Amino acid sequence: MRPTLDQPITFPRGPQWHNRFALAPLTNHQSNADGTLGDDELTFLAKRADGGFGLVMTCAAHVQKGGQGFPGQLGVWSDDHLPGLTRLAAAIRAGGSVSSVQLQHSGERSSAALTGEDVVAPFDRPDRGVRALTTAEVEQLVADFIAAAVRCETAGFDGVELHGAHGYMLCEFLHEERNRRTDRYGGSYENRTRIYHEVIDGIRAATGPQFQLGVRVSPEKYGYGFGDALRFAGELLGGGKLDYLDMSLWDSFKEPDEEPFHGKRLIDWFGQLPRGETRLGVAGKIFSTAEAVDCLSSGADFVFVGRGAILHHDFPRRALADPAFVSATFPVTSAYLASEGVGAAFVNYLATGWKNYVAD
Ligand SMILES: Cc1cc2nc3c(=O)[nH]c(=O)nc-3n(C[C@H](O)[C@H](O)[C@H](O)COP(=O)(O)O)c2cc1C
Repeated sequence: MRPTLDQPITFPRGPQWHNRFALAPLTNHQSNADGTLGDDELTFLAKRADGGFGLVMTCAAHVQKGGQGFPGQLGVWSDDHLPGLTRLAAAIRAGGSVSSVQLQHSGERSSAALTGEDVVAPFDRPDRGVRALTTAEVEQLVADFIAAAVRCETAGFDGVELHGAHGYMLCEFLHEERNRRTDRYGGSYENRTRIYHEVIDGIRAATGPQFQLGVRVSPEKYGYGFGDALRFAGELLGGGKLDYLDMSLWDSFKEPDEEPFHGKRLIDWFGQLPRGETRLGVAGKIFSTAEAVDCLSSGADFVFVGRGAILHHDFPRRALADPAFVSATFPVTSAYLASEGVGAAFVNYLATGWKNYVAD
């Protein structure tokens, strides 16, 4: 029997969620220049907790000052961020949701203009002004991911998710052609995936036994083959260290780009991977109750909703009430977005960073 959307979900560690809907991490530019929490970011996330999400995840939050990729990005790299993080965790909990911070470093996509620091990645890209991390700097990065997780736990968050997707720092380590490092973090599959395991093990050792830990990964497009993506997802799902794997599919219902893997949709490939108690969540074009049901029927344990949750703060409540529910579609007006708790900076990001999202 496959689970239903309204069923609570349990994990090896941490609290159960009251349903199968998770708010996908959404960069929103609504925090302060120093990384401290902005009021609009708090409002946006608290409204999604009130709207019925089992899990509310923050945007990608940078674990080192130099890893900032966006203006108004939430920071988790300093104890100065603790008061805001503490308010945020409390507001999400008050709305009835379990809370998580997405831990990120922008890697080669960091902004020197914002940080005033070198742009670093696992490899050099001199044409883009990107410098390869030294081995000692990789070790420091691992330590800073772990310190950020501990900071989130101190603030009262139920868990964290590692942003290992979309071509940011962790994902850059997976790049087969570019990551030719000769230390233990480059070259072979084992070396390219090593940093994930070191961060996971470190967070497990440094946080309490009920701290919920997930990892987000991408299935294709970032310099490794679909076969490796399946292997890595299988390893993370079967390894027993994680509470959930978050597959960022962008379109859960398309087939893989690589021809040998045609014939099954992305959701089917990942939904069929064996797992113990570790749960599988998927994100990508889930805009209706029927699409969410399809994902659970195809093997996911829960769904992440991104754009649908910008459009409807109460997407879960609507989807659970109506089997025929279909989300509104972009473009929408800024007044509509404001009524859904989207602040001015986020409206501006949607209008300028994405195509055809804001109508006025
Ligand atoms: C405005 C916007 C901001 C996003 N920010 C993040 C982010 O901070 N971290 C991340 O992992 N994914 C981010 N994503 C991807 C979403 O989490 C999600 O995986 C993607 O939008 C697909 O889900 P959807 O079709 O339900 O929107 C972002 C997407 C959008 C539209």
